[in-house]
Parts: sequence; C-alpha cells; structure tokens
Amino acid sequence: MHKADVIIVGSGLAALMVAYHLCEHKNVIVFTKSNKEVSNSWLAQGGVAAAIHPADHWLSHYEDTITTGCEHNDDEAVRILVQEGREAIEQFMHLGFSFDVDERGELLFGREGAHRMRRILHAGGDATGKKMVEFLFEKLSSRVLFIENDPVIDLLVNDGRCVGVRTKNGLYVAEATIVATGGIGQLYTFTSNVETATGDGIAMAYRVGAAVADMEFVQFHPTMLYVDGKAVGLISEAVRGEGATLVTDDGRHVMDGVHPQKDLAPRDIVSRAIDREMKNGHLVFLDISAIPHFSSRFPTITSLCERYQINWRSGLIPVVPGAHFLMGGIVVNVDGETTLPGLYAVGEAACTGVHGANRLASNSLLEALVFSRRAAHCILKKKEQLPGINKYEETRENVCIPLPTKEQIQQTMTECVGIVRNYDQLLEAKQWFEQYSLFELIHCAPPYDDEERTIVNMSIVGWLVTTSALQRRESRGAHYRSDEPFERQYWEKRRIVRTKTEHLI
Ligand code: SIN
Repeated sequence: MHKADVIIVGSGLAALMVAYHLCEHKNVIVFTKSNKEVSNSWLAQGGVAAAIHPADHWLSHYEDTITTGCEHNDDEAVRILVQEGREAIEQFMHLGFSFDVDERGELLFGREGAHRMRRILHAGGDATGKKMVEFLFEKLSSRVLFIENDPVIDLLVNDGRCVGVRTKNGLYVAEATIVATGGIGQLYTFTSNVETATGDGIAMAYRVGAAVADMEFVQFHPTMLYVDGKAVGLISEAVRGEGATLVTDDGRHVMDGVHPQKDLAPRDIVSRAIDREMKNGHLVFLDISAIPHFSSRFPTITSLCERYQINWRSGLIPVVPGAHFLMGGIVVNVDGETTLPGLYAVGEAACTGVHGANRLASNSLLEALVFSRRAAHCILKKKEQLPGINKYEETRENVCIPLPTKEQIQQTMTECVGIVRNYDQLLEAKQWFEQYSLFELIHCAPPYDDEERTIVNMSIVGWLVTTSALQRRESRGAHYRSDEPFERQYWEKRRIVRTKTEHLI
C-alpha cells in the first residue's frame, strides 16, 4: 500500500491548479487514465472569461452568468467566481503566463455567446486551454508525481471517510482525495470531449455514497466541425464572437427571429435552433466570410479544417451541435468538499451550482482557476492526518453481468436524452439502462477490465442523467423537454440531488 498526502484524479486545468497550490506543502500524486495531455482543458479554444477590462464590472459578468444559467445558479458560487476570478487571473499572469496582447502590449478581449461585452482572454489565438495546461505542466514537472496510464478503479472508504484510491496497479491512501476527472461528453455520439470523458469520477463518487446533482443539465455546443456525418472537433464560439453567422444550405440565417442576441444567444438556444434545422433536413454552416485574418486569429480551427479537407477559404464551415459540458456533477461546497469526508471535487466533475442550468461561455477555465485554489486552501487549513491504514479489504462482491456496448449507450443518450427530450423517450432510456442490473453495477465491486469498467461508469452516469431529466418536469436551460416546454415556478432553484438513498432538496 502506497501513501501520499493528496491524490488527484485527472490532469485538466482544475487538477493542475489544485496541485500547484498544494505542492509546496504536500506530497501530491496525480493519476491519469491515459496520457496527462488528454483532457478537455487541453482542447479548450475560446478562453477565460473575467471582468478585467476597465469598462467591465464583476456585476455585469455575474448577471450574464445568472441569466444564461436560467437563474438556477448558486448565487454565492457565482459571486465568488466573478469576484475572485479577476484576482486568480492576475495571479496566473504573475506566475508568467501570457494571454494574447495587441501591438501595444494591451490585453486582447474576445467575445462569446451571451456575454454583453468583450471579456474573454485568450492565448495562442484559439489554443487557450492547451497553453495554460502546458504552462502548468512545466511548473509542476519536478514538484508533483504524475502517474500516467494508471486508471483509478475505485475510491477507498473507511469508517465513512474517503481514504484514497484503488488504481489498476495499486492501493494509495491519502489524507485528501480530489476528483478532477472532467465531464461526460463521450456518453453521446457527437461530442467535443476527449475519449476519456466518460464520467468515471462522478460514477465512482456516487458509488461510494457522495451526492451528485443537476445531472439533467448537459450542454451541447452549437458548432462542432461536421464531416461525413461525424463531429470531428470544436469550432469555438469565439468565431461567432468575431462576426461569423449560422446559415442553412438554402441561405437562411438560422438565428433570425429566434433570439434578440441572434448568433450570440446562449448555447442551449443556438444548439436547439441548429438541431431543428437539421431535423428538417437542412445542413448548417458557419459563414466566416466577415472575419478578416481568420487563420491567424484561429490557427487551431484552421488546421482542424485543413486536416479534414474543409476549404475554410470558401467562407463556409459545416457544423453540428455536440455534447460539450455537464453543469451537474459531484455536489461540493465552494471549497470543493463533497458530502463524503476526505473527498473533494473540482472542475467539470464537481457541481457547486455555479453554472446553473446552462454554463456561460468561457466560465469553465475560470471555474478551474478559482475553485481549485479554494479547495487547496481548504485542504491546507484542515491539517488532516494520513489515515493509519495498512491494508484494505474489498467487502463487495465482484459479479459478472451482461453489459451494453459503448456505442449502444451513445445511441440511446443521443436519441432519447439529447438536445430535445420528452417523457416517452426518457422513460424508454430509463428502462433500457435498467435492464442492465443497475443495482449490481452501483453496489458491486467495479470490474478490473478497462473497457468493462468504463461501460459500467457510463451506464451509471447515463442512468443518472436520464432519471434526473425524467424527474424535472419543465424546460430550463440545457434541459429542454418538448412535452414540458416552459420553465415552471415549482422547479425554480430546486435541484435534483442523487445519492444511493435518493431525495430532492
Ligand atoms: C468555445 O471556445 O466555444 C468553447 C469554450 C467554452 O466551452 O467555454
């Protein structure tokens, strides 16, 4: 049995930030199920939103976040995000990180959907996440132990407290365990997410009794590059921020008459408008012809188009919506503490409630900066002792039950629990998941085999999303039900919280 002060599961921006704030005082191990570069943060293009510009104010960022989140947000978490965000960014730049500047050295601010002003800091044009993550890898390389390609199979619990993890290759105890495994995009056929975004951390936390919430709120990004019937990569919303518009194959503007902010409306509204066009048999394109110097402002997107032989110079890029971000996740307070002592969560796997029913563009990298720092401070303040455990006995049974395939899960989620859902589809999906002995999947020891374990995790998370969506009998933000197309007062500020003994708050 190995020991560390702190174990972090995942290697995106939230994981690296928490590691950075802890590593001077704690011995930290970061586990990744693949290579450490494989994370959604690495793919993040648009940037980081913050009220930094002299003409901006945190209150305006606060209001945009809450309006986009359909008032479902946790007010305290939003206030912390927008107020501490500014300081967190300044601290990041103080460490030596450079956001893009103009020829006079002034910060450049991009624009994205539902922001009333330009407040998105970016780096490398459209490679913000990659630049930030690379910067932190360099800072952390000699200070933190990265164990790559060693998936965490399970969280260890002793006497009602999380005491570490079981990985493929060993048992590790720690005074604090932090889940930073990112989102669930791989549950859908079209996604902007990396291959590893299968909801493992959320499923693991739920299995050991931590609460999860807001699982019905899955955000679909409106514009993934669409090639040969497949979504092959993200086309940042910053492209629309620079003036691109969505058009159909018969030359209509998709967002005309849909929303006053047109192409810069909140993502849920834009995604549904595109989905409607596509279900009516149309193709949808981003018309980028109004953007000067497209390839220098968006080098990542330019090379993505070129890799798939899409002639971006024609001015039209074919797009389709794809699963992008989970607003729900493991319930945490604003210091990253879950409902299970010893267990913390940060980043997309966590749910502070900050994003409400629909995340505002470019608030996720900011969330990673702000809430990871708070989680690290909380751990440092607590002065917990390493659990005095020398061996850990598995008490749960290991059972062999038939499982669906990954493709079947993706198909079910896409058809029944997608951009638009309704009661019959949700019920069908619930029954489909439940034929796979969910009780055993949740309560038995997880399979050792990587593929089977991933499918178990995806099934648990898919079932949580489906049943939460079934329970919320209204439409709000990213959760849109055609049989309940309006917000209902009864559901205002009401969160669906799920534990192994489920209840509503
Ligand atoms: C994008 O660049 O459009 C994605 C950024 C985000 O998800 O906030």
